[in-house]
This record gives sequence, structure tokens and C-alpha cells, in this order.
Amino acid sequence: MKLIITNSYDELSQKAGQIVKQAILKKADLVLGLATGSTPIGLYKELVKARNKEGLDFSKVIFFNLDEYFGIASENKNSYHYFMQKHLFSKININQKSIFILNGQTKNEAKHCQWYEGKIKEKKGIDLQILGIGANGHIGFNEPRSSFNSRTRLVNLNKQTIKDNSRFFSSMDDVPKKALTMGLATIMEAKTIILLAFGKHKAKIIKKALTGPITEKVPASVLQNHSDLIVILDKKLSPIVIHR
Ligand code: F6R
Repeated sequence: MKLIITNSYDELSQKAGQIVKQAILKKADLVLGLATGSTPIGLYKELVKARNKEGLDFSKVIFFNLDEYFGIASENKNSYHYFMQKHLFSKININQKSIFILNGQTKNEAKHCQWYEGKIKEKKGIDLQILGIGANGHIGFNEPRSSFNSRTRLVNLNKQTIKDNSRFFSSMDDVPKKALTMGLATIMEAKTIILLAFGKHKAKIIKKALTGPITEKVPASVLQNHSDLIVILDKKLSPIVIHR
């Protein structure tokens, strides 16, 4: 595991941005796995900056998103389709055909998830996967007790996740209770993984995930088994990780 400690959210975003930028410069047709949520917003700003100021070319990059709410249309302002268009896709030079996001309105979720797995394989796997971490240790929407062998599938969100997500919705009833997500085995097949975490509220779970036992009770702990994991934290979290 490579651990990068930063002094601020801006620095965390810049470091992550540099790694993604270098990866695209090295491989124009990079297969890039993306996350949503508040953590990677700064990284996406950095990528937009790299496009505008340095002309970084995204035209051949292939994008796969980790997850999507189930039962929500892509035009819905709370969908992850909408989030990605708003924060990244509408601001860089991409080929719309190279964007893969799970369809929250699929009528046949098993077939759709299989198709998604097939697409990842067809593109020869994810080169670089960006991850955030939930307060309960989820990555993607793989909630505690998800199998380490899990693949892309429909899942029930747990109480804490529904509560955490409710900040974006007008009422508790509107918060989706299910989601489609890449599985833990799918995520672990990415050649390189960048895990980003910022803020004191993530300190406890980061310590558990990176220094505690590898257990399905803490889905992110599986990352300890990855051979090319880069963790970028802000300094508020780092002492907890370093002094085990
Ligand atoms: C989002 C995702 C989630 C988030 C996690 C942290 O696509 O897969 O696992 O990364 O819930 O969310 P934030 O960054 O909002 O704290």
C-alpha cells in the first residue's frame, strides 16, 4: 500500500488528479473507474482544469462508474448519471459512447449486471479505479457482510447509508433503498486502486479498513489484499493510521 498524506482537501484532490493525469498520458485509452459522493468532486475539478489549461485529452478514455441508485431515472438530479455529467462528463472532451454507468431503471437487473461485467472484460479490465469509503466501510455500495467474491448486482442499502444519503433528498421516503453496484471481486480486479478519504468522520473507519482484520464486516478491508493500492488521506486521518 502506498500512503499519501496531504494537508488539505485541495492537496488531496491535486495528488489524485496528478495520478489520473499521468495514467491518461501513459495510456490514452485508459479504462477509468469512477466514484460519486462528495470526496472525488475536487479530483473531478482537477481533471476539468487539466483539460482546460493543458488540453489533457479524454477522447479515448473509457469510463465505468461504480454504482447507481435503483429505481431512479438517469435525468433525476440525485442519480449518479446526473452527478457525473454535472461534475465531469459535460466539461471534458469525451466520447459519450465510452461512458458506462449502471441503469437504475433496468427491467432485468441480473442480465444488466452481467452485461456490465461483460463490458468491463471486453475493455480488458479497469486500469485505475477511484474509490471513496462510506462511514460503515462500504466501497461502491458493497455494504458490510457483502461477499469478497461478489460481482455487479442489485443490493439493499443499509440504514446508515440511507441516512447518510438522505442529505441530498427532500424527504426520507425519497431516498433510494436499493442500488446497483460493482462487486468487491469486480473492484479488486482493477489494476490500480486509489482510495480517497477526507475528514475526521472517516478516521475510525479508515483505521479499521487499513489496519484492522480483513473481514467482510468491513468491506473496504479487502483492499489490504490489493497489490497496487494508493491511499490518499488528509492529515487529520493519518496519525490514526500510522500509529497502529
Ligand atoms: C459512490 C460510492 C460510495 C462513496 C461513499 C463515500 O459512488 O461508491 O461508496 O464513495 O459512500 O461517500 P462520500 O464521498 O460522499 O463521503
